[in-house]
Amino acid sequence: MSPRPVFLILQFLAALTCLAQQPAPLITNVEHRNTISLNGSWRAIVDLYDVGYSNYRTHLPSQNPFFRNAKPQTRRDRIEYDFDRSDLLKVPGDWNTQRESLFFYEGTVWYEKSFSYHPRPKTRVFLYIGAANYIARVGVNGTVICEHEGGFTPFDCEITTLLHEGENFVVVYVNNARKADAVPALTTDWWNYGGLTRDLYLVELPEQFIQDYVLQLKPGTRDQLFGWVKLSNPGAGQQVTVRIPDLSMEKRVTTNAGGMAEISFAHAGLKLWSPDSPQLYKVEIETASDKVTDEIGFRSIQVRGRDILLNGSPVFLRGVSIHEEAPYRSGRAFSDDDARILLGWVKELGGNFVRLAHYPHNEHMVRMAERMGLMVWSEVPVYWSIEWDNPAALANAKSQLTESIVRDRNRASIVIWSVGNETPITDKRTLFMHSLVETVRALDSTRLISAALEARKVESTTRIIDDPLGADLDVLGCNEYIGWYDGAPEDADRAAWQTPYDKPLIMSEFGGDASYGFRADSDVRFSEDYQEDLYIHQVKMLDRIAFLRGASPWILMDFRSPRRLLPGIQDYYNRKGLISDRGEKKKAFYILKAWYQQKYDSERPHH
Ligand code: GCU
Repeated sequence: MSPRPVFLILQFLAALTCLAQQPAPLITNVEHRNTISLNGSWRAIVDLYDVGYSNYRTHLPSQNPFFRNAKPQTRRDRIEYDFDRSDLLKVPGDWNTQRESLFFYEGTVWYEKSFSYHPRPKTRVFLYIGAANYIARVGVNGTVICEHEGGFTPFDCEITTLLHEGENFVVVYVNNARKADAVPALTTDWWNYGGLTRDLYLVELPEQFIQDYVLQLKPGTRDQLFGWVKLSNPGAGQQVTVRIPDLSMEKRVTTNAGGMAEISFAHAGLKLWSPDSPQLYKVEIETASDKVTDEIGFRSIQVRGRDILLNGSPVFLRGVSIHEEAPYRSGRAFSDDDARILLGWVKELGGNFVRLAHYPHNEHMVRMAERMGLMVWSEVPVYWSIEWDNPAALANAKSQLTESIVRDRNRASIVIWSVGNETPITDKRTLFMHSLVETVRALDSTRLISAALEARKVESTTRIIDDPLGADLDVLGCNEYIGWYDGAPEDADRAAWQTPYDKPLIMSEFGGDASYGFRADSDVRFSEDYQEDLYIHQVKMLDRIAFLRGASPWILMDFRSPRRLLPGIQDYYNRKGLISDRGEKKKAFYILKAWYQQKYDSERPHH
C-alpha cells in the first residue's frame, strides 16, 4: 500500500483522538472531600505560536511531546523545550500580574507539575480545576485526559488509571486567546486574565461515591426541605442517609435504578437563612462507601407582583456590583482573604446583596457571602455581542451556566441566576437567551432568573424597560448611566421610569469614573466630586421608581480593563469603583452608604 493512504488513516485517527474526553460530571462540594492540593509553583512555558501543537502535527495529540514532558533519550535527540528548566508560575493566579512580560499576553501557556502519589485500592482519583481561562487541555503522565472551554467554572477529570506509584506529573495547556465564537466573545470591559486562576486539587473518592446532591427549602414554605442525592454508580436500592445533627434529623432513602434518591421532610424548628441571621446547618450525607458533609442555609426567595420576598417578607436588595479583581494586588481574586476584604466593604456599605459580575466568581466568594449574610446575583459571561446563531456558542453558554448552577445550587447566598449582560436585542439573541432561561429552570426551581437589560429612551426624559427578554425573567435587571454616558447627573432629576412588566426591578448598574484623590468642582469629569454628585442625583431618582426592589451600582472597586486608556486617571483601570484598587474609599461611597442606611431603617418593623 502506498504511503499516502496510510498517512491519511493516521490523520483521521489523530482527528479522532484530539477530541480529548469531556470532563467528568462535576463532583459537588469538592472542598469537603478528600483532597490533595496541587496549588503552588508550577513550571510554565509561554508558547506564543502554539509550538506545542503545530510542529508536532504528525503526532497524535495524546502522544504530543509537551504532554509527555519528553526528554532527550540520546545525545542526538532534538527536544526544543524543557519544563524542568522553565520558570515558575504560582497556581492559583492569573499569569498577567505575575510577570511584566505577560501583562498583555493572550495565547498559550503550558503548565507542568510533578507530584508523588501512592495509589490505594478501591480509590478513584479526579483532577479538579477550579477555573482555567479560557481553554484548558489536561494531560497526566503523558496522556491527554480532558479539555474544557470557559474561564470561570470548575471541571474535573478522572485520572485513576493514569496514576502510578511514586513520581507522576500533570501538564495543563491553557490558552486565553479571545474568539468571536467564544463566551465571552472578542470585547469585554475587563482584563482577559489568563491561566490556572483558581484552586487545583486531586480528589480521592471510593469506587462508589456521592456524585451530586441538592437540599433546599421548598419555596413558599418555612419548614419543608426537599432535594435528592445522586450516586456515582447507577443501581436501585443503594441506601442513603441524610442527617442534620442540629435538628436531630436523620432520613434514610434508597436510590432508583439511576442511582438517584429523592429526599423530602418537614421540620418545624428550622431557623431560616437571611442576611441578618445567616444560619447554616451542618448536613451529613452517607452511603455504604462514602460520606460528605456540607454547610447549607435554608431560605426561600420568590417574586410576588413587584415585590421580592425573602422567607415570605418583602426585601430591598441593597447591593453593589463586583468584578473578580483582587483588592490591593489586582489580578484575579481567588482566596478566602480576597473574599473577606471585598465582602467586608459591602457590609460597611450597609449592603445585603452583591452582583458578582460578569461571570461566576470563585467558590470562596460565594461561601463567604453565605457566611457573612449577603445575597448573590450570579451571572454567566453572555456579555455584549455573542454569536447568537452559532449552536456551539449556545452549547458553550449552557455548559458554563450548568457548571455554575451545579457548583452553587446548595448555597443560600445565591438568590438570582443571571443569563447575561447588555445583550443587543435581536430575535436570534432573544431565542438564545430564552434557551438559557430554560436551562436554569430545568436545573433549579428554587431561585429567581434575571439579566442586565437596557432601557429605551423616549422624549428625552422617559425610560422604558420593555426588552422582550423581560417576559422570561422573574426580576428585571437594568443598566443605566444617566450622568456618565447619558447626559448630565442632574438629568436624573427629570427621568421617569416605566415598564409593561408587572415585575420587580433591580437597577443592576449605574455610576461614573472617579480617580481617588482627584478633588475638583462637581462638574469636573473623573473627580471624586463629580462621582459623588452623580450618586446624589441617582439615589433621588431611584427613590422615585415605584417598582424598584434593589440596586447594584457599578462598581465596588476599580478594576483593570484594556478599554480604559486615559493616562494618569485610568491607566488601564475602569475607575467607577466606590473604592480605589488600593482600598481607598471615595466620596460617593458615603452617599450610597447613607442611602442604604435610610433603606434599612425604612424596612425595619417599627417598634
Ligand atoms: C457596561 C457594562 C460593564 C462596564 C460598564 C462601564 O454597562 O455592563 O461591564 O464595565 O458599563 O462602561 O463601565
